Amino acid sequence: MKYNHGIQLFAIIAIITGSTLISCSKKSKHEINIIPAPLSIKIADGYFALQQANVIHLDNSNHNVENIAQYFVDKLSKSTGLNFTTDNNLEEEAGFVLQLDETLDSLGQEGYILNVDKDKVLITAFKANGLFYGIQSLLQLFPPQVEANTVRQSDWKIPAVSIMDKPRFAYRGMHLDVSRHFFTKQEVKQYIDLLAINKINKFHWHLTDDQGWRIEIKKYPKLTEIGAWRVERTEIWHNRPEAKEGEKATYGGFYTQEDIKEIVAYAAHRFIEVIPEIDMPGHMVAVFAAYPEFSCDNETYRVIPGGYWPPRDILCVGNDSSLMFVKDVLSEVMELFPSQYVHIGGDEAVKTKWEKCPKCQQRIKQHNLANENELQSWFISDVEQFVLAHGKRMIGWDEILEGGLAPEATVMSWRGTEGGIEAAKMGHDVIMTPYSHLYLDYAQDNPATEPIAMHDNLTTLERVYSYEPMPAELTKEEQKYILGAQANVWTEFMPNYKHVEYMASSRMCALAEIVWTMPEKKDYESFRKRIEERWKRFDEMGVKYSKGSTIVDIRFENAESKKGKVRLSTDYINASIYYTLDGSEPTPKSLIYTKLIDVEKPIKIRAIIVKDQQILPNSLTTKLFE
Ligand code: ACM
Ligand code: ZN
Repeated sequence: MKYNHGIQLFAIIAIITGSTLISCSKKSKHEINIIPAPLSIKIADGYFALQQANVIHLDNSNHNVENIAQYFVDKLSKSTGLNFTTDNNLEEEAGFVLQLDETLDSLGQEGYILNVDKDKVLITAFKANGLFYGIQSLLQLFPPQVEANTVRQSDWKIPAVSIMDKPRFAYRGMHLDVSRHFFTKQEVKQYIDLLAINKINKFHWHLTDDQGWRIEIKKYPKLTEIGAWRVERTEIWHNRPEAKEGEKATYGGFYTQEDIKEIVAYAAHRFIEVIPEIDMPGHMVAVFAAYPEFSCDNETYRVIPGGYWPPRDILCVGNDSSLMFVKDVLSEVMELFPSQYVHIGGDEAVKTKWEKCPKCQQRIKQHNLANENELQSWFISDVEQFVLAHGKRMIGWDEILEGGLAPEATVMSWRGTEGGIEAAKMGHDVIMTPYSHLYLDYAQDNPATEPIAMHDNLTTLERVYSYEPMPAELTKEEQKYILGAQANVWTEFMPNYKHVEYMASSRMCALAEIVWTMPEKKDYESFRKRIEERWKRFDEMGVKYSKGSTIVDIRFENAESKKGKVRLSTDYINASIYYTLDGSEPTPKSLIYTKLIDVEKPIKIRAIIVKDQQILPNSLTTKLFE
């Protein structure tokens, strides 16, 4: 086979320095545990053993491809102990070939073909993004030790296989709130690494909120001198007293513009677009702590150290200098982030101060607006014009629908799916991120024994996995507006990065599969088996993770309406759920759960999980519906 289509190629040679690279297994068929599940996998007989394959061929005309090869080499050399050098002349001996093929447009921007036989590993793609995802799948064919940061002994071979793969959705997002808690540049990179192995391509970076402003803005230095710091409190989040006069603000941090450029470049090497969010006109107390003149009342403000509900404070959009401030900030932000998008928040803006502010009321009159919702809409549309004039597109949370949607806005549907459906019907792009399934600040196991998390909600691995981003209500034409989905990591209850990993790492795998894998390939049982393999990889990487829920998830099938039939589910597979409706403790002689349950309220449902003929300890779950 010839891979050189007339493009100059060069090669990387691996020199084996380790002495224990032994391939010995005679087993012919292998489990493939790739997450997210690929479109098609054909397993063949035999193996490709690493010591036979010491050259990586790549398209020298494309820096992206060189970077991908380097990413692969870095990972392999760390864990296998191999050294790699480059060479231009060894195409015939190449063990690994990375090949861009412009005839493969059917694979799209992100698809790839990965072929492994005993002599060669070939990844072919239409675009470099696809090669990167091919590498991610390839790495998952190696033993878990490949993920280690130090040299590990292993049987460095991979099964012969032929994979053809491409994603279901173009927008596959993960969010991180760095305001409620601050995470270092190094930690943000570690988070981006987790996105990369899951083929997630958008990183929504929530950079500003009431509890801290985290991005250096040259024109407004007090945003980070003052706005990035708050008083430290030890009470649980929602019980924290506000800062008092004279108290020292010692908790916080921010990213310099150089840090931001470094992180954006790091993400770009992993084919991840970083979408910055500057939340407005609510969630801006950190701004007012630095520049109170941009608020409606010019009072004394201090960065909020914990919970802040209901919110009171809002940008004075009647004030021209506040509008100028927003545009100045966005100018610097848009310069720093090559993303096609900028996210302007728009959520949870409580407008009572607008009702009392003469300048905001004047603005309403000036533009013949009916009310404060229309004022928010006017403001967001004004910001959108500015964003569009800079060649970018604007995303906002679904509250931006209230009072009228800005002409070209993309809507992030978080309060449910209705906002997303409404926007799609109006011909607007939509990203689905409903809190009912995709908020990873909710506990993933028994809230009574888990670390404190947001509310008392339970969002299990299985629940994330069960989410279908494409609303059945939409016509084929309208469905085109659903760009994809995203899971959100609000960090009120995640005081350090290890806790972020714990909350996000497993459920991110489920999110990855619902946005990458075609619905006909989605299968929770298969996913659960594969994630157990992923956990071994997390062990090698030193990533903290949850093994999923140990209790029964008991909830209305339609969680939003809180009525109708009740669904019982478990994160385990090959397990049965037994339940009672009379308050008694369930046993394996109780009713077995096989289908949705009709309930008459009030009712107490109690359930246990039985696996391998054993009642799982800690699985007893009680839920009262009143
Ligand atoms: C949000 O959760 N406030 C978007
Ligand atoms: Zn005002």
